[in-house]
Amino acid sequence: MSVDKISLKDFINYVKSNVNFDDEASIRSVEPYLRKLNNNKDLLPEAICNELRQSVETFQSENTYQASGYILYKDEDFIVRAVCWLPLSKRKFLDPEIDRGLLVYSAPHDHDFSFMTIGHFGPGYYSDIYEYDYDRVLGLEGESVELKKLDFDRLSENKVFFFRAGKDVHIQIPPDEISVSLNFIVRKRGSQKFLDQYWFDVENNKINRALENDTFRRAKSIDLITALGGDDCFDDLYELKDTHTCRRTRISIMEALTKIKPDLRKQIWSNASNDPDPVIRHAASSNL
Ligand SMILES: [Fe+2]
Repeated sequence: MSVDKISLKDFINYVKSNVNFDDEASIRSVEPYLRKLNNNKDLLPEAICNELRQSVETFQSENTYQASGYILYKDEDFIVRAVCWLPLSKRKFLDPEIDRGLLVYSAPHDHDFSFMTIGHFGPGYYSDIYEYDYDRVLGLEGESVELKKLDFDRLSENKVFFFRAGKDVHIQIPPDEISVSLNFIVRKRGSQKFLDQYWFDVENNKINRALENDTFRRAKSIDLITALGGDDCFDDLYELKDTHTCRRTRISIMEALTKIKPDLRKQIWSNASNDPDPVIRHAASSNL
């Protein structure tokens, strides 16, 4: 195993100069460089100390992920992040209601972005990995889904996993001792920006429900417009019901419009019943 190590700056420069973020093979070609970055064990202590020295700044202001994650670098194309994984014995002081989202264990889920992860420190968390076909599901609660088991493995030091957006489903099982992983996250591209993310029931091959990702939040924001009346937005919404790129947002808009003007219900949902997207057609059939 190579013991070559590189700095975060070298890693960033390599990725910026060589990776085509729309090409999976190109993204995967980062692995040898992620391994070299992973050999740099000064990386995290130095980054955290440097940030602590700047104590007047907001700590980790770019970190929109769980508190257990530490963002080392972020731009419009990719993120380098470290995640600390606690064993169950070290988590017992946590209140699952208050500390929700601190670490996601035992919940089978997919991701709306692709990422490569490597074991940086400790024995590593265990992972059950499945795959499914995003295009064959509507995303309904309790919907049957074909989940194919791919692997069960542990993210031990220097082990690499690659997770594909909207394809792979994983369950993270706590490590035996505190562990750290290093992630190379590809930021959502093109249509990925509108992907749903799901929580699965792998025992019964079902979707439990959609998770509250960007797609969910965008679509749910329409409820605020409806709650506040929304008359001034009517013309904009009427146009966006057919033109917005996010299918979940379009459905929310249609629901809002039919609440604002109930006499349009039949026209709006009849029109939606001819949509090429099966998720929109399903929403139409549920509302007609
Ligand atoms: Fe995950």
